[in-house]
Amino acid sequence: MDLREKRKWDHLKYSLELSSGPLSTGFSDLYLVHQALGTADLDSVDTGLVLFGKKIRFPLIINAMTGGARGLEVFNKRLAIAARECGIPLAVGSQTAAIKNPDTRKSFEIVRKMNPQGLVFANLSALIPYQQAREAVEMIEADALQLHLNLPQELAMPEGDRDFSKLEENIYELKEKIQVPLIIKEVGFGLSRETVLKLRKMGINYVDVGGAGGTNFVAIERVRSQGLGNEDLLTWGIPTAVSLIETLSTAGEMIVFASGGINKPSDILKSLVLGAKAVGMAAPLLEVIYENEEKVLIDYLEDLFKQVKELMLLIGTSELKQLKKCPIIITGFVREWLEARGINIQSYAYTRE
Ligand code: FNR
Repeated sequence: MDLREKRKWDHLKYSLELSSGPLSTGFSDLYLVHQALGTADLDSVDTGLVLFGKKIRFPLIINAMTGGARGLEVFNKRLAIAARECGIPLAVGSQTAAIKNPDTRKSFEIVRKMNPQGLVFANLSALIPYQQAREAVEMIEADALQLHLNLPQELAMPEGDRDFSKLEENIYELKEKIQVPLIIKEVGFGLSRETVLKLRKMGINYVDVGGAGGTNFVAIERVRSQGLGNEDLLTWGIPTAVSLIETLSTAGEMIVFASGGINKPSDILKSLVLGAKAVGMAAPLLEVIYENEEKVLIDYLEDLFKQVKELMLLIGTSELKQLKKCPIIITGFVREWLEARGINIQSYAYTRE
């Protein structure tokens, strides 16, 4: 097993061993408003939507995690079957490993094999050249390509990238050349307003905020390197709720996905009420299938969908489209941050039109 393959296994193992944070996602500073007069039948709550031209049952993405080492296909297989059965999208982990070492291709190809009609996202570093991006998309007949931004993680890895001087240029080039939609995605340090504005000017239409408060790749890399590197980076990043609101404040027509430490039905609903198109979850789902067959994840997801639907009833709506009109109160640290940044949050507190 080469260094890259070992790293893939390490990421899986340590993401499960380590706890979330230490930063908090900020969702506990956000409050949805209870509406005592119910208006709908729980069975009629509709969470279906069309994404990248395909119908999905619920606005949840199984976010990029794995593949790229021998033996990892079992996890991608379980995730792909669960995605198929639950009718939701799935992103594979970074495919650079399979481009460099064809022995590991099947750990990614299994996803399309198990889910021929489903919505599947390829995944690569945003530093990757066009030919490799094209190969990754073709490898799994991807509907879209996630390009990840992970500077703190790279810096925390002794073998990580150090030169980001061509990053923006490369994203722009990929955007011009690649045939599928591009999703620019953070991996747990969050997108800021300034970053989103630049991406928007480049013509990027999809972003995943990947905020702080969940899986922490600096913590993971520090375990891998036995504590080497900058300890201060352990608390680096923009909490997910903050990053989501910053992003939405400047996103214009862009489609925004929320992720990073989201593991509760109320966090999912808060993200959707704020204006996310869908929510991504990674480590909490890996934890479910690590030692269990896909059936356990399917049950977990169906239960999660049901709980979100119940909460939708409690805030007085049975339709996804209506969620953005529901009031949400922003308090505490998240409020202070956003006010300091001059972002208008007052309108969130009222029923919006
Ligand atoms: C990840 N993540 C990730 N992201 C990415 O864009 N490419 C990748 O290859 C990986 N690899 C990976 C491996 C493992 C084991 C985990 C747990 C995560 C990051 C992931 O997609 C997500 O952005 C973060 O994990 C934050 O979400 P959660 O885990 O807090 O829900």
